[in-house]
Amino acid sequence: MKRIFAANWKMFKGPKETRTFFEEWRKSAIGILDSVQFFVPALNASVASEALLDSDFAWGLQNFYPEIEGAYTGENSLAVAKSLGARLALVGHSERRHVLGEKDEFLNRKIKFACHQDIQVTFCIGEQLPEREAKQTVQVITQQLDAGLDGIEATAKIQIAYEPVWAIGTGKTATPEMVMQAHQEVRKWLNGRGYDFPILYGGSVKPENAKELLAVPAVDGFLVGGASLQIDSFLKICSAMSH
Ligand code: PGA
Repeated sequence: MKRIFAANWKMFKGPKETRTFFEEWRKSAIGILDSVQFFVPALNASVASEALLDSDFAWGLQNFYPEIEGAYTGENSLAVAKSLGARLALVGHSERRHVLGEKDEFLNRKIKFACHQDIQVTFCIGEQLPEREAKQTVQVITQQLDAGLDGIEATAKIQIAYEPVWAIGTGKTATPEMVMQAHQEVRKWLNGRGYDFPILYGGSVKPENAKELLAVPAVDGFLVGGASLQIDSFLKICSAMSH
């Protein structure tokens, strides 16, 4: 199976930097046969659409509102993004959950809406530090899966991203053992319900730890924040297994 490398640019980069990045990326990433995906800020959607046209690289939104259109001031339409060529969307990122207050039920609605739009969802789950310390990791991620994937069919285009919240943007990476345990739990949960979705790891992935984390069984790829903002570091992560 192909590995998956997904870049989450968060609220970084404007249209000009986005265009430059993709122009360079298309020249530099020629040998990469794995699946590479970009979650760009919505304001860069048109540029991403043009710059990635006829390429193997998919792009999508970090956030959207689960309606085609309507009186939802400030929100992004997935239908419009799709008309521009978006094929992906992120749902349940810890910053949406814990900074913007999105709840499980709403995340489930977003996933259902995106599936209905034939957009591939990357569904993020992960425990916060006090939950890990209280040995509640399995309970938390299981509950997030139960709620988020309620009513989702096995044929849905979904990938799971296990991102321990305490490892996101902090430089603290989960150890390979922690990643293996969590991914095995997720895989068990998915298998039990007939789902075959890939499972990505996210949380301070960088060129220095990419190879060891990719070698963990049940890791199908990464969701990368900070280290995806520079071509050089993201390229190193995407080609970690080749050297
Ligand atoms: P990070 O972010 O790689 O900067 O820790 C990961 C993410 O938020 O998806």
